[in-house]
Amino acid sequence: MFEQLSSLPPDPILGLLATYRADENPDKIDLGVGVYKDESGHTPVLQAVKEAETRLLQSEETKAYIGPAGTPGFNAAMQEQVLGADHPALLANRVRSAQTPGGCGALRVLAEFVNRARPGATIWVSDPTWANHGPLLGNAGLEIKSYPYYDRASATLLFDQMVDTLKDVGEGDLVLLHACCHNPCGADLSREQWKVIVEMAQKQGFTPYIDMAYQGFGDGLNDDAWGLRLMAESVPEMLVAASCSKNFGLYRERVGLAMAIYNDAAAADKGQSQMLNVVRGNYSMPPSHGAAIVEAILTDAGLRANWEAELTEMRERINGLRAGVVESLAAAGADGDFSFIQRQKGMFSFLGINAEQVQRLQREFSIYMVDSSRISIAGLSQSNMEYFSKAVATIL
Ligand code: LMR
Repeated sequence: MFEQLSSLPPDPILGLLATYRADENPDKIDLGVGVYKDESGHTPVLQAVKEAETRLLQSEETKAYIGPAGTPGFNAAMQEQVLGADHPALLANRVRSAQTPGGCGALRVLAEFVNRARPGATIWVSDPTWANHGPLLGNAGLEIKSYPYYDRASATLLFDQMVDTLKDVGEGDLVLLHACCHNPCGADLSREQWKVIVEMAQKQGFTPYIDMAYQGFGDGLNDDAWGLRLMAESVPEMLVAASCSKNFGLYRERVGLAMAIYNDAAAADKGQSQMLNVVRGNYSMPPSHGAAIVEAILTDAGLRANWEAELTEMRERINGLRAGVVESLAAAGADGDFSFIQRQKGMFSFLGINAEQVQRLQREFSIYMVDSSRISIAGLSQSNMEYFSKAVATIL
């Protein structure tokens, strides 16, 4: 049976990581996968996470099943984290959610959930978008179409073209938006632009589906949720896939939230029964440990303050690197204007070089990035910045 299967190329992001790990060049730089790194290139376990784990070790009394929705405490804390504590949709009891294995789990569960309500529904995604959106949403049965979003040549948003494409999208279709820190391009909607898209959703009736994988990595926990919260106040129905991988540094623990906002509480109860049925038919129920850590942190003032300070440190380090690399590329004489890197947000920006130049950086300098020239900024450091900039100047 399996002999007829052909082999597939490695995943464009995860495959790169394996090649990087096998490279023996001591100067190698990993700008591939979106994982935060400190100045020494290490991805630390946050102190708040360690402390929460220590407490859990003492207090946890059972490993019995937690059920398809996960724990109510995690879901409630995350809903408040995403929407803000006194969000009208929460007060009206119109929100339901499920703890999922990572943001990917959330994206997939929500996509299958949509496919039950409207089989083969069309979802509009930004061009470009994260490489795994296609498989996660498409394999669930949704039809994927794209709207223009970012122009690599000028390193700017194509907002007018975005609006022009979305102006004909109506009820029954979904529009995927990145809440903040756009992956892969780092260019986010301004507040004025969010308002335009919110108004379009209200008037035209499409369903917003918001991916929030980097809350806290752009401008701060609340600022990064500004557009999402406005949208959630303005439309009757909306979906959110949230991830705790990056902002809690819990990548391998797989913690996420699939959240749906409904017209009213009765629709919410019916919808939730479907959502949990999707979960049961996929992986039955989510893993517990990572979400228990998040719940412990979000519900304890001291742990929460420590976590927020660590998140601020990660954000500020990345912003410092953004400024630093612009300067360093200029000092190395790299041909071009890279100032856009400093204006963009979150873990990623496109360097703006072509696939052949990306390959040269890998072959000749052991500098790894995905073919689109997306760089994960946190892979840079004070110690490798000059090496990186000189290499870029050379291949340009
Ligand atoms: C990335 O875009 O690098 C991250 O979201 C990790 C992943 O799973 O692709």
